[in-house]
Amino acid sequence: MFPTGVVAVCAMDEGKPVGMAVNSFSSVSLEPALVSVCVANTSSTWPRLKKSANIGLSVLGADQESLSRKLSSRHGDRFEGVEWTVNDDGALFIEGATLWLDCRVHDQLRGGDHEIILFEVLQSHLFPQVPPLVFHQSKYLGLAHAS
Ligand SMILES: Cc1cc2nc3c(=O)[nH]c(=O)nc-3n(C[C@H](O)[C@H](O)[C@H](O)COP(=O)(O)O)c2cc1C
Repeated sequence: MFPTGVVAVCAMDEGKPVGMAVNSFSSVSLEPALVSVCVANTSSTWPRLKKSANIGLSVLGADQESLSRKLSSRHGDRFEGVEWTVNDDGALFIEGATLWLDCRVHDQLRGGDHEIILFEVLQSHLFPQVPPLVFHQSKYLGLAHAS
């Protein structure tokens, strides 16, 4: 019942893009700038992502529902037809997102069947003209003004 955004957590691994969609993203601290994401202990993508010096977090835009599905699918190429860019530290960002955060793992905490990843935000790039994708009750929505 808690509405969230959807964040693509992506990096390069052995010359190939890797990534996953998450909705457990949260802001944590301002000084230092920290955000968190919870990753399932069963994830096969996270062990690949965490090898990268930096990891890119892209807050998906309202028209990126199919991309969210793609980045969570267990079959096929998650990046087929996806436009992305990568920085010198291996952080990968999705074109058309509303926010890019260039992050480095700051700490990891055990959280039951998930791992709580604390990321330090090194740089951010905002695209305020792009409305965000909203995930609520297992459905994808857009934002609407409260009346
Ligand atoms: C909207 C949405 C939110 C998700 N949020 C999370 C999350 O917060 N943490 C997580 O571990 N997986 C989350 N997933 C699942 C992953 O995207 C992916 O399916 C999972 O990591 C399994 O693939 P893997 O073995 O490649 O990691 C989410 C999927 C969707 C569609």
